Amino acid sequence: MAFSLDSILRENIKKAKPYSSARDEYKGTEGTFLDANENPYGSAIDKKVNRYPDPLQRDVKEALAKLKHVAPENIFLGNGSDEPIDLLIRATCQPAKDSILILPPTYGMYEVSAGINDVEIISVPLTRSFDLDPVAILAAVKPSTKIIFICSPNNPTGNLMSIDKVKTVLSSFNGIVVVDEAYIDFADFAGFVPLLNQYPNLVVLQTFSKAWGMAALRIGTAYASKEIVSVLNKIKPPYNINLLTQEAALEALQNNALKDEMVRKILVQRDWLRAELSKLPICLELYPSDANFILMRTPDGKKVYDYLVDHVVITRDRSKIILCEGCIRITVGTEEENKRLLEVLKKY
Ligand SMILES: Cc1ncc(COP(=O)(O)O)c(C=O)c1O
Repeated sequence: MAFSLDSILRENIKKAKPYSSARDEYKGTEGTFLDANENPYGSAIDKKVNRYPDPLQRDVKEALAKLKHVAPENIFLGNGSDEPIDLLIRATCQPAKDSILILPPTYGMYEVSAGINDVEIISVPLTRSFDLDPVAILAAVKPSTKIIFICSPNNPTGNLMSIDKVKTVLSSFNGIVVVDEAYIDFADFAGFVPLLNQYPNLVVLQTFSKAWGMAALRIGTAYASKEIVSVLNKIKPPYNINLLTQEAALEALQNNALKDEMVRKILVQRDWLRAELSKLPICLELYPSDANFILMRTPDGKKVYDYLVDHVVITRDRSKIILCEGCIRITVGTEEENKRLLEVLKKY
């Protein structure tokens, strides 16, 4: 089936003219800047942040493009990867008419963003082994369905989706397929970014919030065709990534080895934690993890969660979520944190 971006964009988005900021209209860095109503004297903090930042974050994209082997034009940067989730829904789904398709149990923001935009949510649960079922997905797609969200590695289950099944959905659906790879750095798989040229309807989400350790700075990435990236740029708030975050992202990209070293330590801890959790009497099932968290089934997830909170160890109670009955989700911590968790759980 041929994908046509034009045919899935909302009419108002096609016609929309983006806000033209002062920094869009004059791109030089030297001059007497009397164009953006900024404070010429400086800032009320000990940092030079009185000038608006680059609206298209060109330096960050150039560095990221080199690391990911894509063109800068294939990169959109958002205020966290949550921002492109919302922008993609707004660009394609007409409120009270169109739909998105999600695969529960999965990351909650697809549903939240669709709800805020008054967009119908079609749910096709994952299989018992937490994989996607392309036949069921394609059967559930409606003419109104604009986006399918696939989270891989999936939150909260932790596993990668079968690559061939994701490819089947990509080549059979004529809307956008978002593959959310927030946790890809913890998986033994290069992810879908190298396949961008093969699938014009593919959007890959990644983030600086997990492996890079920069959750507080709010920066996430959507990799997609130049056409899709242009639409996202057209509708985003003009200065969606602040200057300090852009500078920090550039610094982080010079420190790729440091990120890799942190990932390596987390993976060592993940193995240790799995081995130890599996020995506990309350561990009914421990799911394989390609991420920096582990899903564990217990006889009563809420009770275990509350017990841990009483001992000031905070996990996530996922026991009310479809297919996750009795489960808690445990983020892999430092060696000390994981030992503390085990010490408390052993006394349950
Ligand atoms: C699967 C998934 N996607 C996206 C996000 C959002 O990340 P960000 O901090 O980049 O907005 C999260 C955050 O937990 C997540 O689990």
